[in-house]
Amino acid sequence: MNTLLDLIFSRHSIRDYTGEIIKNEDIELIVKAGMAAPSAVNVQPWAFIIINKKDKLINLSKLLPYAKMLEQSGAAIIVCGVPDKDMHFANKYWIQDCSAASENILLAAHSLGYGAVWTAVYPEEKRINDVRIECNIPNNIIPLNVIAIGVPKNKNMIPIDKYKIENIHWNTW
Ligand SMILES: Cc1cc2nc3c(=O)[nH]c(=O)nc-3n(C[C@H](O)[C@H](O)[C@H](O)COP(=O)(O)O)c2cc1C
Repeated sequence: MNTLLDLIFSRHSIRDYTGEIIKNEDIELIVKAGMAAPSAVNVQPWAFIIINKKDKLINLSKLLPYAKMLEQSGAAIIVCGVPDKDMHFANKYWIQDCSAASENILLAAHSLGYGAVWTAVYPEEKRINDVRIECNIPNNIIPLNVIAIGVPKNKNMIPIDKYKIENIHWNTW
């Protein structure tokens, strides 16, 4: 199997970290991988907030109900939609575009030996507002998720095989 497929099949959400900080150059490379994602008409309707201050990570972990792992993470990336950049499709495709960027971020983190997990913000109104206030995000920018990234505590976790033949339909349902 080639390296990319190995990475895709071995990636899984990691929620336990040592708390070590992550080098700025690694975070920048991970964000760069996010920006390499496809987007409708190549509009790139996204922006990325890098969180690497411990107090901010702790605040976010308290604001988001399923993101306690942020406390122990080395950094986080908030993937934000910037729908105003997407004039072609009346702002319709930012979620797909930002989701593609998010998956690239998860894979890039994994390829560098970090553990990562997508924690949900959009479409939960309260979470959007709380993250907006905490990170000073303008009203026309929408936080899609907070991706926690850290040095994994346990490097021997085995990913679940999610292949299900019943989910495949050839040529017709
Ligand atoms: C849209 C979305 C929202 C998610 N929200 C959370 C979350 O708030 N907290 C969390 O711990 N994991 C969250 N996850 C991670 C999923 O739980 C995880 O991807 C799923 O259980 C499959 O496991 P895997 O990533 O190890 O393959 C989210 C994933 C997606 C795609």
